Amino acid sequence: MDEVVQPFEADVGRVLEIVINSLYKERAIFLRELISNASDACDKLRYESLSKPELLGADPKLEIRILADPGANLLTVVDDGIGMDKDELAANLGTIARSGTARFVQELTGDRAKDLKLIGQFGVGFYSVFMVADKVVVRSTRAGQSRGWVWASDGKSGFTIKEDDQPLPRGTAVTLHLKEDAKEFLDAARIREIVRTYSDHVAFPIILEAKPRPGDTKTKAHEPQQINSASALWARPRSEITEEQYREFYHHVGHTFDEPFARVHFTAEGTLSYTALLFVPSHRPFDLYDPKRRHGVRLYVRRVFITDQLEELLPRYLRFVSGVVDSEDLQLNVSRETLQHGVVVQKMRKQLTKRILDELARKAAEAGEGGSVPTGEGEARPNGEAKPEEQKSKGPSYLEWWAELGPVLKEGLFEDAENRAKLLELARFKSTRGPGWVSLAEYVGRMRPGQDAILYVTGESAEALRSSPQLEAALAKGCEVLLLDDPVDEFWVPEVREYEGKKFVSLTKGEVDLSRIPDEGKIETPDELWDDSFKKLLAKMKSLLGEEVKDVRPSKRLRESAVCLVADEQGLDFRLERFLKQHHQLDRLSKPILEVNGRHELVRRMAAMAADPAMEQDLAELTRLLLDQARIVQGEPIPDPGAFSRRMSAFLAKGLPAAA
Ligand SMILES: Nc1ncnc2c1ncn2[C@@H]1O[C@H](COP(=O)(O)OP(=O)(O)OP(=O)(O)O)[C@@H](O)[C@H]1O
Ligand SMILES: [Mg+2]
Repeated sequence: MDEVVQPFEADVGRVLEIVINSLYKERAIFLRELISNASDACDKLRYESLSKPELLGADPKLEIRILADPGANLLTVVDDGIGMDKDELAANLGTIARSGTARFVQELTGDRAKDLKLIGQFGVGFYSVFMVADKVVVRSTRAGQSRGWVWASDGKSGFTIKEDDQPLPRGTAVTLHLKEDAKEFLDAARIREIVRTYSDHVAFPIILEAKPRPGDTKTKAHEPQQINSASALWARPRSEITEEQYREFYHHVGHTFDEPFARVHFTAEGTLSYTALLFVPSHRPFDLYDPKRRHGVRLYVRRVFITDQLEELLPRYLRFVSGVVDSEDLQLNVSRETLQHGVVVQKMRKQLTKRILDELARKAAEAGEGGSVPTGEGEARPNGEAKPEEQKSKGPSYLEWWAELGPVLKEGLFEDAENRAKLLELARFKSTRGPGWVSLAEYVGRMRPGQDAILYVTGESAEALRSSPQLEAALAKGCEVLLLDDPVDEFWVPEVREYEGKKFVSLTKGEVDLSRIPDEGKIETPDELWDDSFKKLLAKMKSLLGEEVKDVRPSKRLRESAVCLVADEQGLDFRLERFLKQHHQLDRLSKPILEVNGRHELVRRMAAMAADPAMEQDLAELTRLLLDQARIVQGEPIPDPGAFSRRMSAFLAKGLPAAA
């Protein structure tokens, strides 16, 4: 009976299309991927067998075997792990798992050369086998089941699954029919070197069995030989672990291929005894904002993998961390529920969080970076030169790292009161001072005389915020203003309220009093500007605008602009309100305050018009025009854009000489 060829899921097809035709140099990574899968499968079985020892049956051995058969041109990777049943084979090897591969697909550009590089960057998991094999056969028996299945594919037209008439006792065997130009991967020395490079950290023994090449009488068949140290990397003395081994371990546990930005590796003794090896990535994981995303830390108990789903082990704002925690205290067959809420896990969480934040603080201090590094707001590095090679190899600087993962760490400012002070020191912000990042310590260090608050504005992009009218008076007084353009900023600022006794004050909300800060260079003229005619104008504008605004008042924050909108002191800041409305957590937006700049030429003229009843109509039109203008600047929608443009054209026409 002909097996039915099942098509690959679309994305798999795209991956395979690239992988098969790829001239990707480091093809050897296919073996790393297969061994990583085999190791995960052994980990999963060891854990499941804690509650169902029968799954191990008569043969508790868990190992990975590599069989090289140059005569038949076959390379097979076998594991005694959890195995897969028929449905799992179709699901796992026919669709894109939630893994590095998913990110690969997301990043595909269609430009072959660029996409090729992605293979190294994200890895393509199981599908990397098609870089070196014309055909792949996967035999698998789910632990605890007797029936086994055979999955087969050429990586092009789909895959077939049929029952295995000689099923494996359990586990999986992946056999590669190697391509003509991939025979090197049947060579024992080559295989040993690849395993040494990429998989030495795997905690299960990797056994190599290599047959000699046909006609090669000199080379004896290799005795099955273990080719990795198979000891849990994290349990080894730190002095014996190379950077390369740490990096490969990070790639394995993190399902990622970037450089680790930071690492903590320590053993806690005393009330709690455990070893932790944790990594902070250099780049933002593709699913960082996926609500289902969890940290990538695996819990082991005395070297036995227990789970990688223990959410409580780290706070959500550290969900980019991956690694291992191996506890000496916990019971092997502890249930996940007990784990979740147990004191041991709570204590570990506290200590792990502290260690990670301390390591980030060390990285920040090590970088000693001030505001010089660009925030990536479209500006190239100062005087445009590329990042020096040696720096590139060392991974990103703290500020480059912050640009990638800072917004997530800032969630901690909102949700983790205990570590708030540490997180505030780690935080970096864009500011009006220049294209670079500033720390709060730097900001406070250069506050102006008479300035007692940390001034900030929030909005979609720092670039747009730089020209906000609400900044004008502060800038005229030489004050630096933080430009907060991450959505999370709306949430942590109201929660944190101050830094080192200095309040965070939004320049787009409530009253702002900068009067104690002298204008740079010139003495400020007090309120004489706000003469009667100006006050009358404000009253008139207020009655003209009626319910559209909460109030119309003289502005202390404008210099060059005629008007701006300000959120009510008691209310929410503009962006937060818009955010909550968009997420249906608010029925309607509150009415803003229209602030008017008594110095502005246009306002001076309008004040004069306010005294002349004949100008009533024009004044009303102008007032509406200014309100809509302030809305545009604030990124608020204009209720009637048509009317706005008609008004605008009418007034522009007034400014032009009459047509002949
Ligand atoms: N030897 C194996 N034993 C049991 N299941 C396996 C084996 N190899 C692969 N699988 C299953 O197939 C899925 C896909 O494997 P693949 O390597 O493509 O992705 P991944 O391992 O989940 O993530 P990554 O892209 O980081 O490797 C795995 O998640 C696992 O469920
Ligand atoms: Mg994998």
